Amino acid sequence: MDAEALKSEALSAIEAASTADELDGLRVRFLGRKSELKQALRGVRDRESGMALNAARESIEEAIEARQTTLQQAELSRALSEGAVDVTLPGDRVKRGRLHPITQIRREVEDIFVGLGYEVVDGDEVETVEYIFDKLNMPEGHVTRSPLHTYYLNGDIVLRTETSASQVRMMESKPPPVYIVSLGRVYRRDTPEPKRYPIFHQVEGLAVDKGITLADLKGTLQLLLRRLFGDERDVRIRTSFFPFTEPSVEADVQCFICNGKGCRVCEYEGWIEVGGAGMVDPNVFVAVGYDPDEVSGFAFGWGLERIFMLRHGLPDIRMLWQDDIRLLEQF
Ligand code: DAH
Repeated sequence: MDAEALKSEALSAIEAASTADELDGLRVRFLGRKSELKQALRGVRDRESGMALNAARESIEEAIEARQTTLQQAELSRALSEGAVDVTLPGDRVKRGRLHPITQIRREVEDIFVGLGYEVVDGDEVETVEYIFDKLNMPEGHVTRSPLHTYYLNGDIVLRTETSASQVRMMESKPPPVYIVSLGRVYRRDTPEPKRYPIFHQVEGLAVDKGITLADLKGTLQLLLRRLFGDERDVRIRTSFFPFTEPSVEADVQCFICNGKGCRVCEYEGWIEVGGAGMVDPNVFVAVGYDPDEVSGFAFGWGLERIFMLRHGLPDIRMLWQDDIRLLEQF
């Protein structure tokens, strides 16, 4: 066979190959076990034709190698230009953390009261029976004093069942006037259910000054409820009872779903109960060393979870403690 002829046939075919597959085919055709060249090499008898065939084989191998490099480079620059980054495309959205819904509402309520000139104070979650019950005028034998209701840590030390103890500590620490809100966790020995959870948050408000009346209380609650539930809402107060207020009231907001007409959310009442309030009981003033003939005041204590659930139609308080990202991401 003519080694030169074979070589030039191979080299021009290799030069013309435009894909890696094509090149592979040529490698098999010209250098494979069954190729003309390999068969000729097997049948070689003289040194001269052996050398000529081997030289042809080497040239073909080199040519394939070179062509392969060229093709790979072409492929690479094609991929680079086709896959060029389009800087006008919108980027991937970065997921940002956010505040828990209860923290958000807590800050919202704090802001409302800071705007009214109130001071925000922290209370302690661990309290004494004296501050959480005695000084709040809770009679001996009152149901909330029972260990079935309250978590006793040790003797007279309890997890607070309400934020009202911070009222007492605040009044003891300075003379009137007092305008404070205190927001935080409270604990009650309750079984978790849709409307109850053993831990929840309250906002406690207290205003003590000369000549404070029930009308001031109503105006303040009205402002708070309108900020939370909409400017058009009507607010009403009904009589109620708490040991530390006299008179005591319960505040209702006009149903913001049906505007007072009556619907499932307000149980066809047109009104939704938000929480307790009242005029500070003279006994509480005496307990903290204030003169009930000199000053008067109002107080209120509302659940933040309840406000949140009402506002967003959340059916189950337990959802606020499950840290389910699908819920949290919505707020
Ligand atoms: N502490 C009460 C409760 O947890 C709520 C409350 C009612 C607080 C009337 C007050 C108040 O300050 O004046 O149910």
